[in-house]
Amino acid sequence: MASTTLSTAATTSQLCSGKNGMSSPTSRALLAKPAKGLGYGRERSMRVSCMGTSIPADRVPDMEKRKLMNLLLLGAISLPSAGMLVPYTYFFVPPGSGGGSGGTPAKDALGNDIYATEWLKTHGPGDRTLTQGLKGDPTYLVVENDKTLAPYGINAVCTHLGCVVPWNAAEKKFICPCHGSQYNNQGRVVRGPAPLSLALAHVDIDVDNGRVVFIPWVETDFRTGEAPWWS
Ligand code: FES
Repeated sequence: MASTTLSTAATTSQLCSGKNGMSSPTSRALLAKPAKGLGYGRERSMRVSCMGTSIPADRVPDMEKRKLMNLLLLGAISLPSAGMLVPYTYFFVPPGSGGGSGGTPAKDALGNDIYATEWLKTHGPGDRTLTQGLKGDPTYLVVENDKTLAPYGINAVCTHLGCVVPWNAAEKKFICPCHGSQYNNQGRVVRGPAPLSLALAHVDIDVDNGRVVFIPWVETDFRTGEAPWWS
């Protein structure tokens, strides 16, 4: 350690200390100049001591090691982040969108999944039974006369004011108990005040396990030849 005034031989690796803390030789040079309105007296009285702090060449951090450490740090952060991202993304996938057909599984009155083979054992031709459909809407599964499931389900929510419309097997119509609207056996409106036919959903069977699934109907309404009002 050596006490000195400003040294022109100071290198950039030297640090100087004074009353006001640490400073570099450059800042010391600036301090040596009197500022406007300030005299040399105070400046002269400031004792500054500089300390040679040169870092030996063999102790300068290796850039390759720094890069390696950065990569290790990046990996240590990225792996747990990716691990958390997967369940976070999965959280936003609606339940029931799984399955080979990618639809929503139809559920019976007890909330159990419906399997086509089992369903057709207990539901004969012409049957229309309420199930839980898309978004939980009550939806009729239709059994055709050849004992197969119809490729469409009929949403049971009345298009007038939203009552659930029961199937009247004797009349072969859906007749709303609230204000008397009527729909034919495919859900097409045949008497008001309901303004529109009942909504449709595709019915598909999962090829992997035979489970019945509903899929949104976005194509033309085959009963009216018009665009679907519900999509
Ligand atoms: S709610 Fe069905 S006719 Fe009014």
